[in-house]
Amino acid sequence: MPEDTVREVLEAISASRLLPVVVIDNIKAAIPLATALKNGGLRCVEITLRTGAAEVALRTMAEDHDLMVGAGTVLDCHQVDLALNAGARYIITPGFNPEVVRHCQASSVPVFPGVATATDIQAAMNAGLDAVKFFPAEPLGGIAMLEALAAPFSMMKFIPTGGISAANVAGYLHHPAVFAVGGSWMVARHLLEAGDFAAITELTAEAMRLADGGRDIDQEGWPYGIT
Ligand code: 3PG
Repeated sequence: MPEDTVREVLEAISASRLLPVVVIDNIKAAIPLATALKNGGLRCVEITLRTGAAEVALRTMAEDHDLMVGAGTVLDCHQVDLALNAGARYIITPGFNPEVVRHCQASSVPVFPGVATATDIQAAMNAGLDAVKFFPAEPLGGIAMLEALAAPFSMMKFIPTGGISAANVAGYLHHPAVFAVGGSWMVARHLLEAGDFAAITELTAEAMRLADGGRDIDQEGWPYGIT
């Protein structure tokens, strides 16, 4: 992946500050889901490789050039290759696996591995990363835990994910160490199963309003010097 494309990915995530986490069971939902997210104002989405439909859904949505589609729940190098082959522009993993991170770096694709401890963060730093997923954010202690972990690692930025909703997203986004927030509330599996794309658009639009409310002007353009 050329460097300017990597920059494009990071710019899109920096701008949106929200990453909807999708668990998709039906490939027929892929196109209406893409439309629903765009109608709600979002341009980024993470498709988790947890279902039989995920690879085809990822491939279908990645063909939409108005969306920046990444793969989530990527657990090994084979899945990195599968995701890249399907058109994923970035990789998200639940934990820190150095082999997977190296493989992503060798493929020049942005990777955001999950961290839950200071040890994980140091491992990510040693791998040359400056942005990670903080997972699972709420069960780990939420903003208080993030604050405590961020303090000694001022160079590291986070995508908190796990247990976040409209009720607490703005608080996370106000934290200067937060790069973007991930969550499934606006693309809940039951809404996808029910084909309720109007609700997905409504929840996405609400989330985007809340995200903008949590935007700190000083953070704009972070973390890659994008302005
Ligand atoms: C996940 O990997 O499932 C994400 O962390 C989403 O978590 P959430 O469903 O609590 O938003």
